[in-house]
Amino acid sequence: MRVLGKMIPSNYEYFGPEQHNADMKNIVANTAESVRIIGQVKGHWDGELDAVVAMANKEVITEREDHSDYLYTADISNSTPTLHRIAKVIGFTSNTQTRIQMQRPGCNHCRHRDPAERYANPYRVQVLVALAPWEYGQCLFFNDTIVDKWQAGDVIYSEFHNIDHFTTNASWHTRPLLHIIGEPGESLKQLLAIKEKHIFQL
Ligand SMILES: [Fe+2]
Repeated sequence: MRVLGKMIPSNYEYFGPEQHNADMKNIVANTAESVRIIGQVKGHWDGELDAVVAMANKEVITEREDHSDYLYTADISNSTPTLHRIAKVIGFTSNTQTRIQMQRPGCNHCRHRDPAERYANPYRVQVLVALAPWEYGQCLFFNDTIVDKWQAGDVIYSEFHNIDHFTTNASWHTRPLLHIIGEPGESLKQLLAIKEKHIFQL
């Protein structure tokens, strides 16, 4: 974990120009397979979220330089058991990482694709869970699809390694997402195959 001071590189400085030119010329139409909301988590996590926000507001915490525009917490599973349990109820069974991405007002995470090796050997799936209701000015883009107007608990699935994506927060509210990556169990594999929304009860 790194505690960052004031000299934080922008996404552009971090990635460099070659990232911006590679494989990013053509945006194609998404299919339901590549990005969609797969369901909603029902439960209460405001107390834990408030504690993380209070901690992160004191200092910018991140493990990754390219996420420097986030208040991006490292492993918080010990201090936030409820948030960590969300991964379980969604159907992640092993090799599971949970992180909270709190994007500050006025910040962008520029267009990119995730590294493919993050999702292979073993096969892993990544989702984002909205921890607070959508605020005007916040959006996620996946290829040609805008994801906005989410509700707290919405579970957003995408093939992050196959499609271009970016996020911006032009609201006046910090935007908390729970980022989960891990091996899907049978129930989650089935859910991804049938393409119906599901309620995940915490
Ligand atoms: Fe990404």
